[in-house]
Amino acid sequence: MKNHKFLFVCLGNICRSPTAEAVAAAKIQERGHLWICDSAGTSGYHDGETADPRSIRHAKDRGYNITSISRKVTDRDFHDFDWILAMDASNLENLMKMCPDPKLHAKIILITNFCQKHKVPGVPDPYYGSAKDFELVIDILEDAVEGLLNHVESTIVPA
Ligand code: 4NP
Repeated sequence: MKNHKFLFVCLGNICRSPTAEAVAAAKIQERGHLWICDSAGTSGYHDGETADPRSIRHAKDRGYNITSISRKVTDRDFHDFDWILAMDASNLENLMKMCPDPKLHAKIILITNFCQKHKVPGVPDPYYGSAKDFELVIDILEDAVEGLLNHVESTIVPA
């Protein structure tokens, strides 16, 4: 069976995409898959930093463990990952520009396209926000990741 690889991408890789990575890793494990998750930023503003302590705390309160270290997206990522999930429309646009080969564009998808309950155009940036904004990020990502994993599971052809 294919070993799917998911890359979650936001601007700084310290708030939304590390949260997405942790939520997805937990749900993938729950579902019994051995799929790979990572996250990165379209900027290198926070290269080498641990995630925002607010993201780490809010995620921990819901049972998710954020361990990622911020890094910028690389050319290699577009080849290495099967699914490149942008957190918002601006991240999506930047990823399309950064992608080294138009043949790989189909891998780049807005994560909220997979939401089943939330009708939102993207995951709102919580960086300048309050506790409520960090909670909303997790609400949206739990919904989007469930939808994403349902979709990927639906593409599995029994051997
Ligand atoms: P993220 O949030 O893209 O969800 O990691 C941000 C983190 C840092 C900045 C912007 C957004 N910043 O401008 O430094």
